[in-house]
Amino acid sequence: MSHSSAAYPSAVPVGVDTTRASIARVYDAALNGKDNYDVDRQVLDQVRTVAPQVNDLAWANRDFLIRACRFLARAGIDQFLDLGSGLPTAENTHQVVQRMNPQSKVVYVDNDPSVLVHAQALLASNSRTRIAEADIFRPLEVLGNDTVRRELDFTRPLALFHIGTLHHYLGDDGPALTQTYIDALPSGSFVAIAHFHDPETAEHSELARKMEEKFIHSPMGSGRFRTRDEIQAMFGTLDMVEPGLVRCDDWWSDGPHLTPLSDVRNCIVGGVGRKP
Ligand SMILES: C[S@@+](CC[C@H](N)C(=O)[O-])C[C@H]1O[C@@H](n2cnc3c(N)ncnc32)[C@H](O)[C@@H]1O
Repeated sequence: MSHSSAAYPSAVPVGVDTTRASIARVYDAALNGKDNYDVDRQVLDQVRTVAPQVNDLAWANRDFLIRACRFLARAGIDQFLDLGSGLPTAENTHQVVQRMNPQSKVVYVDNDPSVLVHAQALLASNSRTRIAEADIFRPLEVLGNDTVRRELDFTRPLALFHIGTLHHYLGDDGPALTQTYIDALPSGSFVAIAHFHDPETAEHSELARKMEEKFIHSPMGSGRFRTRDEIQAMFGTLDMVEPGLVRCDDWWSDGPHLTPLSDVRNCIVGGVGRKP
């Protein structure tokens, strides 16, 4: 359920520009969150003219994140570097992994003022979860960040998430960007990526291109739908965990798909790689 900023003027956190769409708030709107404004919802309205089920992109991504958290916590990972945390919603990374292992440490990284202000409030009472402000598309900035270095032990395996983020990076050097992160991780670490996808089939490729056109030319200004090969390249030489890079809904789904997936669900893929 969303509400208008006009109805709740005092709810706008300091530093938040409600006249420009933000990636985090558009995503929040797609997940039926409450921390978004008209300008954010208008982006989705525009995409909806070519993809009425656009909210399913966000849900497929978010459900993949939750399942990846459970898998990694069960695999014994107890340190998480979650790049592009998004606005707090139900089942955030720290809640999923700390439910399974209360000792798990989580560092979120984001640069959106709405995210930072909400996360700081939410995490004030959680000593094992922190948020760092940095540009996730500048790996050296993140890897050198004081909070990241202080809270996470880079001599022990950790999980790094770039979930729902790299499609907002418009450059063609995504694989080099992720490789810088991978190089910094110790053996036994995992990397999880979910990314808007051009399925390269006549029907769904056209859908992906139309959504890309709307996202990139919206006030949000980003949202690239890359091919499978382009996304796979971002995992470098990591060993892919079964079933590899697949539609987010097909990555260890919670059960059989009882109804056909909406078309847009072909347009987002996810996978988890392990550093040998
Ligand atoms: C679509 S949300 C994904 C949230 C979460 N990872 C998930 O999958 O549910 C993308 C997040 O990345 C953040 N983000 C985008 N570009 C960023 C950048 N250059 N530096 C830091 N954060 C960024 C946005 O603010 C937003 O919170």
